[in-house]
Amino acid sequence: MVPLTIRQELKRQLAAREDRRDPITTPRVPPRAETLIGGGDFEHVGNEFFGILKRHGLSPDMAVLDVGCGQGRMARPLVGYLDNGSYHGFDISLEGIAWSQIHYADLPNFFFEHVPVYNKRYNRDGDIKGSDFVFPYEDNQFDMIFLTSVFTHMFKADVENYLSQIERVLKPGGKCLITWFLLNDVSQSAEKPFFDFAYDFDKVSKTTTPKNPEAALAFDEVFVRDLYDRCGLTIADIEYGTWAQPDSSFQLQDMVVAGKE
Ligand SMILES: C[S@@+](CC[C@H](N)C(=O)[O-])C[C@H]1O[C@@H](n2cnc3c(N)ncnc32)[C@H](O)[C@@H]1O
Repeated sequence: MVPLTIRQELKRQLAAREDRRDPITTPRVPPRAETLIGGGDFEHVGNEFFGILKRHGLSPDMAVLDVGCGQGRMARPLVGYLDNGSYHGFDISLEGIAWSQIHYADLPNFFFEHVPVYNKRYNRDGDIKGSDFVFPYEDNQFDMIFLTSVFTHMFKADVENYLSQIERVLKPGGKCLITWFLLNDVSQSAEKPFFDFAYDFDKVSKTTTPKNPEAALAFDEVFVRDLYDRCGLTIADIEYGTWAQPDSSFQLQDMVVAGKE
């Protein structure tokens, strides 16, 4: 018998699962062989970000959206916390979503959705451009939206569309927390940045890897600030990460916290 690819095997498991909602006893941490996200300790990174979300006002009754949720690294610490709230995550990685759907099947307020957006690194089968994609949610649906290490793999036109979609589905008074690699005077003159964005990709972004730019993209901070402004989101705070500022006490990437009035 021809062995199944990971994608075929996950599809098979999903089909076999149907709508069973048996209690899941796994720790919802992918074993190393099934981990799709490189680097860092899965549990530690998720726990750290959970603390950041709470510091920015997360509460158990909120509706939250995790764009580019992967294998639920940020969802896992919310289990048992979002008791009266809900979690929605979507991603272009079929493997990531299938894994999450299997491992969160017992939770009626956790939803994972695969979307067919193209990305050379994460979804070559996608047939929708990120710049055209309409999020599958209602206007003003979420209290909090977050993206960790997602805009760091997307192009200008795609992040422009995604940020305007984020504004659309965010409730007035809601917050979005998004990680970026921001190009500014400090990061541009850093002696040994963790990532070296040495190659211009377009007028507002640089990459580490010209042959596969989606591997890592950094954006001009002036462009990013202007984009939030154009999308009707007000930046409340920027925390700079250790990737270019080793003395920072924050996580690796920069994070922009913004609100919808
Ligand atoms: C480095 S992983 C981070 C995953 C997750 N946010 C986390 O922190 O564990 C980047 C993720 O972004 C997803 N991604 C890339 N482009 C996307 C897009 N246009 N829409 C949604 N997700 C996307 C990838 O499939 C991948 O799961």
